[in-house]
Amino acid sequence: MSGGWELEDEPDRVISVHPELVNRRIGEQLWKARAEEFDLLVGSSGCEIMASQRFSVRKATARILLGEGQAEEIRRLVEVHEADVVFVDHPLSPVQQRNMEVAWEAKVVDRTGLILEIFAARARTREGVLQVELASLNYQLGRLVRSWTHLERQRGGYGFMGGPGERQLELDRRMIRNSIGALERDLEKVMRMRATQRSGRQRKDIPTVALVGYTNAGKSTLFNKLTQSDVYVADQLFATLDPTLRMLELPGGLRLMLSDTVGFVQELPHELVDAFRATLEEVIEADLILHVRDASDPLQSEQAKVVHQTLHQLGVVGDDSPPVIELLNKRDKVAGMVSYHGEDIHSSRLAISALHGDGVDELLELLSDWLQREMGELHLVLDISDGRSQAYCHEHGFIISSEAVDNVLHLIVRMGPVHAARFNCDGALHFLQ
Ligand code: GTP
Repeated sequence: MSGGWELEDEPDRVISVHPELVNRRIGEQLWKARAEEFDLLVGSSGCEIMASQRFSVRKATARILLGEGQAEEIRRLVEVHEADVVFVDHPLSPVQQRNMEVAWEAKVVDRTGLILEIFAARARTREGVLQVELASLNYQLGRLVRSWTHLERQRGGYGFMGGPGERQLELDRRMIRNSIGALERDLEKVMRMRATQRSGRQRKDIPTVALVGYTNAGKSTLFNKLTQSDVYVADQLFATLDPTLRMLELPGGLRLMLSDTVGFVQELPHELVDAFRATLEEVIEADLILHVRDASDPLQSEQAKVVHQTLHQLGVVGDDSPPVIELLNKRDKVAGMVSYHGEDIHSSRLAISALHGDGVDELLELLSDWLQREMGELHLVLDISDGRSQAYCHEHGFIISSEAVDNVLHLIVRMGPVHAARFNCDGALHFLQ
């Protein structure tokens, strides 16, 4: 992104400002939790908060959002704490942002800018990097309108055209649009590759289970617990940005692919929802979704709503959509939480602790039951000496019963359709249904 603020090793000294619009007041608990979440986001970006202040705003102004006295108070805070950046927990127009920067002599970042910066610093795969760059450019393109004089000053004022002018603005726009076009083409290539990998997995008949959840709910911790891998876990928002896929072997030997994806957050900038559609395709294409919730968070129902809305935005709702199991995580922090097993898998709710492993065996059993139910049931009549077929059944199916009569082995096996199709010769196969 343009502008001087970047994630660095040395933390920036920052001021966090929480404007509270009087006519849009929400409950005190909700307000506090939101403000805390914003400060956690700021902390996640590697900054040191010198002051975090709430301002009650009677009437938002187009010029600087806050009242004059409040703006002056912030200027004083910036001066006293020698702050480099002011984070404003409210969407800002380019004009408001510019006026604030001039008044406070500090870089000003709003919520969208902040999330974009965090995403940019966390993206690790080529796909992740491309997606964030694309989102940032789209954000910049919107900001270029009417704010370009200010951008030019930030660039160091190399206005070789002899001062601000529409022509420079048009050049900037064209440059950004060209970069967007190139990025979109690159991203399409990466997505095509991913789709090929996915269809390869489907051909191998390995079902995919996607973890989704509000940021910091504990998805990566659970992912690690289940797959015993070492995906980055941090008490930071958006620790997971790129989709991570691992094979998970269930008790009984059945296998599935587990994917960990980016955490959701309220008011996720629309540029990011669009840009991350590629990453979230793992969710769209999943056979089952595990919705990890932080049961210890007082705002968990609001967070769950955000997750449902985001799934809705992605088109993951309705009859054709994968079932969703709710996992009430961090049960070690909440007294008396119990699981509920519904008749259908999507009405089940499991109370778990991803960190300590409580309820994880129960989850594995539930996954194994689901997988078996998803599979067709086969009755195989095999020659007792046919070791190859028997080994195949053990590897790719779930043996329900096995009985040898003379030289014939009667096997009842649950198996996915791709594997089942391999047993179509000699009349040895009968679907029970
Ligand atoms: P994003 O990457 O932001 O989407 O976060 P995430 O959902 O992947 O969360 P992550 O696994 O990084 O966990 C966030 C924090 O919650 C970490 O500090 C974990 O140690 C903590 N945590 C996760 N599960 C549990 C749990 O069962 N109990 C407790 N007490 N803490 C947990």
